[in-house]
Amino acid sequence: MPSSLNNKVIWITGASSGIGEALTYELAGLHTKLILSSRRKEELERVKGNCPVAAQTNIRILPLDLSESSTLKLSADAAIQLFGHIDVLINNGGISQRALAKETTLEVDRKIMEIDYFGTISLTKHLIPHFSITGIIGTPYRTAYAAAKHALQGFFNSLRAELWKESPSIYVTMICPGWTNTNLSLTALKGDGSAQNKKDDTHASGLTPAFVAHKIVKAIEVRKREIYVGGWKETLAAYLHRYTPGLFAKIVRKAKVK
Ligand SMILES: NC(=O)c1ccc[n+]([C@@H]2O[C@H](COP(=O)([O-])OP(=O)(O)OC[C@H]3O[C@@H](n4cnc5c(N)ncnc54)[C@H](OP(=O)(O)O)[C@@H]3O)[C@@H](O)[C@H]2O)c1
Repeated sequence: MPSSLNNKVIWITGASSGIGEALTYELAGLHTKLILSSRRKEELERVKGNCPVAAQTNIRILPLDLSESSTLKLSADAAIQLFGHIDVLINNGGISQRALAKETTLEVDRKIMEIDYFGTISLTKHLIPHFSITGIIGTPYRTAYAAAKHALQGFFNSLRAELWKESPSIYVTMICPGWTNTNLSLTALKGDGSAQNKKDDTHASGLTPAFVAHKIVKAIEVRKREIYVGGWKETLAAYLHRYTPGLFAKIVRKAKVK
């Protein structure tokens, strides 16, 4: 099937697991050139090895740590060198949180912001001059995570408005997934910075990463501004938050989100 992403160079962060891994498989079937990034090189190699053999010749591995923002300019330069340019950056890598604000040390707040916000915008800023084309609700136990994701909304909404004039061929698509059955709740940080190491029921019964990846690729193909991909509860919550914020505030304080 022809796709607007055929032959495009696509850089995926967080490609070693969950949604990023599923995106790799979805995009590998579209005759794309892929750059896979995250910290764990061996997991990236595993994901690459699971792709069809013919697609593997067009897949490169580029390990990086989003918490080390001073190294990300080098990573962006290295990524551009791999195929000569980048068409699409999918900012997917990240970690979550499982602790009340009062239990969360400031170091943990900073760590989540460093990975989910500063790491993400750092890669984006380094790439903007090189592109050849192309958190909505807050819930308990997620103060730092919600802050980082809300910050990304603000950053990318402003960036989209800036690019419209200066670089109209660069598009910004925001993806807002609901609960998806990945490792995100295992690596989510508790208040002291240790990992939760347990999968939440909401994630275990969430959408499959493959389903979410398919919706993400469709949204990027047609250059959507923003999409919600979630089960009925999260999607309803997003709309309640937008149109009836008072009602939403009463519901979310009782929500079972752990
Ligand atoms: N699952 C959900 O319900 C859900 C819902 C809404 C949004 N999301 C978002 O979707 C994205 C992907 O999450 P997921 O659910 O697929 O979780 P996941 O399975 O835990 O995957 C997270 C990915 O991020 C990478 N990562 C974590 N810390 C990193 C760092 N310091 N530097 C570079 N890469 C790092 C991990 O790779 P390494 O460990 O190899 O570094 C992994 O590939 C996240 O941004 C998450 O916030 C998920």
